[in-house]
Amino acid sequence: MKNIQPLLIVDDEIRVLDVLIKTFESDYVVLSANNGFDALEILRHSPVKVIITDERMPKMSGMAFLKEAKLIIPHTVNIILTAYTDLSVAIDAINSGIVYRYLVKPWDTDELRITIRQAFERFDLLNDNKNLTEELLSKNRELERNILELKETQDKLVRTEKLAVVGQLTASIGHELRNPLSRIKTAAALMKNEIREATSETDELLKIVDNEVMISTKIINDLLDFSRERKPSLKPCILNEIINGTLTRLRFPDYIHVEQELDETIPELYLDDGQIQQILVNLILNSIQSIDDSGKIYVKTMLNKEFVDLTIKDTGCGIPQSDLEKMFEPLYTTKPKGIGLGMSIVKMLVERHGGTIQVHSRENIGTTVTIKFPLKPIILEN
Ligand SMILES: Nc1ncnc2c1ncn2[C@@H]1O[C@H](COP(=O)(O)OP(=O)(O)OP(=O)(O)O)[C@@H](O)[C@H]1O
Ligand SMILES: [Mg+2]
Repeated sequence: MKNIQPLLIVDDEIRVLDVLIKTFESDYVVLSANNGFDALEILRHSPVKVIITDERMPKMSGMAFLKEAKLIIPHTVNIILTAYTDLSVAIDAINSGIVYRYLVKPWDTDELRITIRQAFERFDLLNDNKNLTEELLSKNRELERNILELKETQDKLVRTEKLAVVGQLTASIGHELRNPLSRIKTAAALMKNEIREATSETDELLKIVDNEVMISTKIINDLLDFSRERKPSLKPCILNEIINGTLTRLRFPDYIHVEQELDETIPELYLDDGQIQQILVNLILNSIQSIDDSGKIYVKTMLNKEFVDLTIKDTGCGIPQSDLEKMFEPLYTTKPKGIGLGMSIVKMLVERHGGTIQVHSRENIGTTVTIKFPLKPIILEN
């Protein structure tokens, strides 16, 4: 049966070329050329597997042709025909890896026939090896991807489990603590009214009670928010008033200077005032905690086309660029006593109000958090 494998024969002696073509045309698809240049042209258009070439040819030797051929089809298996006088060239060619076998002219037809058959077998073997290697590499890459996915899923699972535990624990503890806290807050306010001639010391003590109640409420609300979805109950509110209320109730260390710049032209917005206070307390506490000795915290609001921008900026320790994304992950904290819920809750509450949050930070310079609230009340899902 005729082999449909393509064989290229190159020889400058037409008589030799004719004999070779006649010998092999019944077994292979024979392509032929009587010089290296024409042979290279054939290679550009035909998927040749085996080449037989004469070494001694004018203008371009057999070896020079094979070197060029390698650039067009890199994996052909090559046989070179040489005269006895060119034997050293043939041996060098084999050592260089370009030539598979050499035959000395005049060749023995049976030997040439066997050599050509072996050359085709070698081509197929090398090709199979190449395909297997490629398949192996691609399977390896797939395996690496799967391992990575598995690790991500595992991490997610561990996080979800942690969150479930946090959720269960806090839902019950939070409820138990909320009522006593609100009674402490009311009692402190009543006490302030009772004591008509309060000294500045008593005033300061009552402020401490109020501040601590507010921080405890933040922690409880963060945890409760985390264990169940709480839809905001939107009412027309004046954002600046919520900010002023929060800022007067929070106690700032003496070494922190607070500045505020509130835009009076901001109209009423539909907000859940409790949740906005929670956002503010979370962000301002983070800023306070980021400042070690002296520093500043700026709170700014600004009407900005369809939105109201709320900016909280500090001159604290900042966040490394690589950790910026992580700060919104639940339970991510760098503080010995932190829970790591603050920022994830802030993001969730802002988004429930139809807003967006952005953080810019530079280590040892400070952090700026910008929240955009839409002017128009948003229609919440569900
Ligand atoms: N203003 C800030 N300056 C520097 N780092 C910050 C700032 N805000 C947040 N971070 C970093 O992001 C982390 C996560 O903040 P997040 O408020 O979510 O948790 P936390 O403050 O550690 O704990 P908590 O749940 O008590 O708020 C912080 O631990 C801190 O490393
Ligand atoms: Mg925090």
